[in-house]
Amino acid sequence: MLDQTRTQISSEFLSVKAVEVIYPNGTVALKPVDLQIFDNEITVLLGPSGAGKSTLLRVLNNLVSPTSGEVTVRGMGALQPGSKLRIHRRNTGMVFQQHQLIGRLSALQNVLLSRIGHFSSIRTLFPLPQTERRWALECLERVGLMEKALSRCDALSGGQQQRVGIARAIAQHPNLILADEPVASLDPASSERVLGMLLDICKQDNIPAVISLHQLEYARKFADRIIGLSNGLVVFDGPPSLLDDKALKNIYNA
Ligand SMILES: Nc1ncnc2c1ncn2[C@@H]1O[C@H](COP(=O)(O)OP(=O)(O)OP(=O)(O)O)[C@@H](O)[C@H]1O
Ligand SMILES: [Mg+2]
Repeated sequence: MLDQTRTQISSEFLSVKAVEVIYPNGTVALKPVDLQIFDNEITVLLGPSGAGKSTLLRVLNNLVSPTSGEVTVRGMGALQPGSKLRIHRRNTGMVFQQHQLIGRLSALQNVLLSRIGHFSSIRTLFPLPQTERRWALECLERVGLMEKALSRCDALSGGQQQRVGIARAIAQHPNLILADEPVASLDPASSERVLGMLLDICKQDNIPAVISLHQLEYARKFADRIIGLSNGLVVFDGPPSLLDDKALKNIYNA
């Protein structure tokens, strides 16, 4: 059912082929994993702590290198250190649990920082052009923070800071969004609002998103597809409607 829909509306953006990750201390974080990420799809990674969600996310832009296997990206081939990987990273918007903003800088300056990767190092010694400033403001407007553009980030609430983090990610014109527990440090009301905002933007702009979450109810509400991990293995891959008690047992080893 899911595959039928996909062939009609989506094509493969990224492919993970027999990827295994063993950290230098010997921890096997991912056992050989095969999966594809499709255009237009919100994929949520679920699984208990230590299941391999962050590792899998980080493999998708080679922040963690596979011990074996490979990740290929449409139009680029296999990811390996070098110029193609730099382009893929620049085209990937990352959203973290800790938003990693610079507190003493304004929301606008933090969003502008994401644009620097698009210019040569000489160019970045000079002020960025007005068009960049306008684009950064547009991104802040999309997350409802236009009026906070000039506020220091350390004077914003946790939810507002996370929205600046989202504006910073979308300012890169990403063709992929990776988010690792993006709302883990927010209260439930802010979590739902911030996550909804991020995923609405992904849907409007047709950006595939891969998001790790601990909240099952958000996975059910927002995901097109859920990938369940347990001990480094994919034990579920399907739409939320198929995530029944048996599947949950497999994921959470209950
Ligand atoms: N840099 C590292 N060096 C060694 N082992 C690591 C490293 N990062 C993660 N691990 C181990 O790899 C396994 C998978 O970790 P990972 O962070 O991917 O899990 P996770 O599903 O994201 O967990 P959580 O829900 O707690 O964030 C765990 O056993 C973890 O201890
Ligand atoms: Mg994690």
